[in-house]
Amino acid sequence: MEKLTLTVIKADVGGFVGHSDVHPKLLERAEEYLEMNGKNLLQDFKVSHVGDDINLIMTHYRGVDNGDVHRLAWDTFQSATEVARELKLYGAGQDLLKDAFSGNVKGLGPGVAEMEFEERPSEPVIVFAADKTEPGAWNYPLYKMFADPFNTIGLVIDPKMHNGFEFEVYDLKDNKKILLSAPEELYDLLVLIGAPGRYCIKAVYSKSTGEIASASSTQRLNPMAGKYVGKDDPVCIVRCQNGLPAVGEALEPFANPHMVSGWMRGSHSGPLMPVSVRDSAPTRFDGPPRVVALGFQICNGKLIGPQDFFADSAFDRAREKANEIADYMRHLGPFEPHRLHLEEMEYTTMPQVMEKLKHRFEEME
Ligand code: F6R
Ligand code: MG
Ligand code: MG
Repeated sequence: MEKLTLTVIKADVGGFVGHSDVHPKLLERAEEYLEMNGKNLLQDFKVSHVGDDINLIMTHYRGVDNGDVHRLAWDTFQSATEVARELKLYGAGQDLLKDAFSGNVKGLGPGVAEMEFEERPSEPVIVFAADKTEPGAWNYPLYKMFADPFNTIGLVIDPKMHNGFEFEVYDLKDNKKILLSAPEELYDLLVLIGAPGRYCIKAVYSKSTGEIASASSTQRLNPMAGKYVGKDDPVCIVRCQNGLPAVGEALEPFANPHMVSGWMRGSHSGPLMPVSVRDSAPTRFDGPPRVVALGFQICNGKLIGPQDFFADSAFDRAREKANEIADYMRHLGPFEPHRLHLEEMEYTTMPQVMEKLKHRFEEME
């Protein structure tokens, strides 16, 4: 059977209002563009968003890293950018970092999560998308889904899951990657992924079947204009059921909001709040960071859905808790750990302040 590819490409090409949401006209334009230009390429597509980021969810038979599919996504974002410019939306075209497309959208600004697999007799998948945070935000939930028996009972009582999973981890600083096997290497795995600013889970594989189970938009950081880019607002695909985490096991980690880096000016730590697409526009202090979960049944390459999972009231308490944590963290104002460590902040005035104060520093006795 021909292998299907599920490709999710995201970009922020203009916010409505500020960095909070996507204007409906941009979503309309993206849909029209894919409808008109994706006919010979795509099997199906859905356009969605989380906060100010547009997600293009696409299926096709061209494999991962396909130049034509990536170009189509790039051109779609260009087209949506035209609308954003007409409406003078905030930061129009901000994630399209180069003037021209060259082969692959990686490193050009948009984030990409994609995987190729043989479509099973029934193929449930979840596309997670987050705003106001970074790819390392998936480390905690992916660990819980695929390695923590207190989250995923299937690891204990489902013979198809009992062998565990392999984690592909990227070192974003040294541009290296490593494959680690759970449960045998759990402690080594946690030494790395517990530091999500540097080590990110790129993919997860079933040890029973060798099949890919998850892929995220974690990618090599690209130095551009003296800054490392391509780190923002990640997406992640998780295949579910029948030897993989049940839908409910994949959603469960988000019932207890974990702390992620991002929020205001990409320079703060805050709780990741699970929300419906409708409620995904960050407001308070440009946050708190949000995550949506869109469920699809894939049927002969068609995307049946989405099911907006976090719209469920079962996640109300998680939202309340996230708000409580947000209250507490906001009280700390400019102090760590609310403010990120010096090296992790997206904004800083440190060079100017040091320049101004350098003559006033004295040696200590
Ligand atoms: C964080 C984010 C926002 C902006 C903030 C300031 O990822 O997008 O919190 O950083 O609104 O934006 P500018 O500098 O564009 O005024
Ligand atoms: Mg933005
Ligand atoms: Mg965003």
